[in-house]
Amino acid sequence: MKPVIALTKGRLEKQFLAFLESLNYDIQPLKEKGRKLQVETEHFYAVFAKGVDVATYVEHGIADIGIVGEDILLEFEPDVYDLLPLPFGKCRLAVAGEQKAENKFAKQRIATKFPNITTKYFRERGKSVDIVKLEGSVELAPLLGLADDIVDIVETGNTLRENGLVVKEEMLSISARCIANRNSLKLKKAILAPLIDSFRIEEVAI
Ligand code: PRP
Ligand code: MG
Repeated sequence: MKPVIALTKGRLEKQFLAFLESLNYDIQPLKEKGRKLQVETEHFYAVFAKGVDVATYVEHGIADIGIVGEDILLEFEPDVYDLLPLPFGKCRLAVAGEQKAENKFAKQRIATKFPNITTKYFRERGKSVDIVKLEGSVELAPLLGLADDIVDIVETGNTLRENGLVVKEEMLSISARCIANRNSLKLKKAILAPLIDSFRIEEVAI
């Protein structure tokens, strides 16, 4: 029996494949998947989903393990075991906006895909803000006057730069994480341990 890993599609997927390759896993079936959403490899079955759904599949035990951004864990707090950080998907969460813009709204209005993280962040600083929930291209909101600022992920900073926005406050650094279903960890330990242990890379301090 092989374990099931749920993988976040898109950017994290590419970085996870490169990580697997660096660990000498045969990733050919994953590279050749085309539009298929389930792929069998030598060591595991892979299923591909959006980040929050990866957490849901793991929470329900459909997938034993998940590869997901820490932002998803912070925003949705799924009932999963947060096993270990992975050495990719490194980025920051930040408040960003136009350099000199005065706030347009009486109460600072923030557009974001992460309403829970944002509310908590400002509440902890004794600040009440209005939140507009968006599903993507959040950088548009201050440019079009929907919000004063945004809370979003910054990786290379290109999206902010190319849209004339700047980081106003660094919130926290995040990375990809390996999560696991709580029961799978107990019941399928023998088949999960080798996989999980191979992901446990000691990062070299510079
Ligand atoms: C993410 C994130 C930022 C951008 C950060 O968006 O929401 O917009 O990437 O990366 P960068 O600093 O390297 O430019 P994504 O491309 O996932 O699209 P979406 O926000 O529309 O979902
Ligand atoms: Mg974006």
